[in-house]
Amino acid sequence: MSKIVTTKSPANIAFIKYWGRKDHKLFIPANDNISMTMSGCNTVSSAILRDDLETDLVEVKFFEQEYKVLEPSTIKARDLFAQIERIRKLSGKNAKVHIRTENNFPADAGIASSASSFSALTAALLLVYGLEELYEDKVELSRQIRLCGSSSAVRSAMGGFVELETANDSEGAHCVQIADENHWDLVDIVAVVDPEKKRVQTSEGHELADTSPYFRTRIVEMQQRIVATRQAIIAKDFLTLGPLIEADTISMHSVMMTQDPPLIYWGPGTLSIMHELQEWRTNDNVHAYFSIDAGPNVHVICLKQDAAEVQARLNKNKYVKWTIYNEPCAGVHETEFSLFD
Ligand code: PMV
Repeated sequence: MSKIVTTKSPANIAFIKYWGRKDHKLFIPANDNISMTMSGCNTVSSAILRDDLETDLVEVKFFEQEYKVLEPSTIKARDLFAQIERIRKLSGKNAKVHIRTENNFPADAGIASSASSFSALTAALLLVYGLEELYEDKVELSRQIRLCGSSSAVRSAMGGFVELETANDSEGAHCVQIADENHWDLVDIVAVVDPEKKRVQTSEGHELADTSPYFRTRIVEMQQRIVATRQAIIAKDFLTLGPLIEADTISMHSVMMTQDPPLIYWGPGTLSIMHELQEWRTNDNVHAYFSIDAGPNVHVICLKQDAAEVQARLNKNKYVKWTIYNEPCAGVHETEFSLFD
């Protein structure tokens, strides 16, 4: 038996999102994208090599559930087993791996659970198979995470505000840090309106993105927005950043809703919050902006100084079941704590 390795990874929220891929085998996103890490939404993964196992054993504990053995029945699960196989081969070792992994927030509901899961799992696999140099070099770590099939997870390789650059080859598609977690007191309050699993996984959605007549238009029109977003983060210019975040959400969902078959992730709670935020800005001078991923739940971005007011208002909305408070934080890292204890 090897030593136990444990990693912890935050989720991240994309201010400029990616939808669709340039290369589906290498998981290279269609466009550059920018995100912020989320301190309140984490995955912890422990891994140990075991010579006595005939097949890899992955036990998953989803939010408020018991441990279950992961079967390769979904695309994401199959991608994870392929990632284990790939990393084992790279290490030259033969031993199978036993993994335990836990999320502290609902999975597959547009809160970025695959981002934290795949980043924690890849980091744990690299460390347990003795590939420390691939883990220590965060640019290389981001490439390794991408190969597990979730490009959003790549952005959790680094802390704070991170850009995932697209490229025409695997070498070029990696992360760069725009600013670290101490740069800016920005907050993401997730308004959970529906914690149930989404019906269509992002892996399936990406494959059909280019069936939308607006897919190419988005790739062109988001180019100036990503430059402006990077600049607004560096300059800590919130009143410029907020509208850019909302514009990008609307742009990505326009593609989702017009692809074949259409993907409509918004529900009544989503729209209710979108309307409320507009009203608060216009009538009450409360500045908060929405960002929505592949699910109905709404990430509400505001300055820390306004967070208590925004969170109290969100908790009064009849659709909101609970809220999750997030600040920028460090990217994936090793911890002492073990899930095998
Ligand atoms: O990489 P995936 O399969 O987790 O795709 C996620 C894509 C969005 O969350 C919808 C947008 C993004 O950039 O995070």
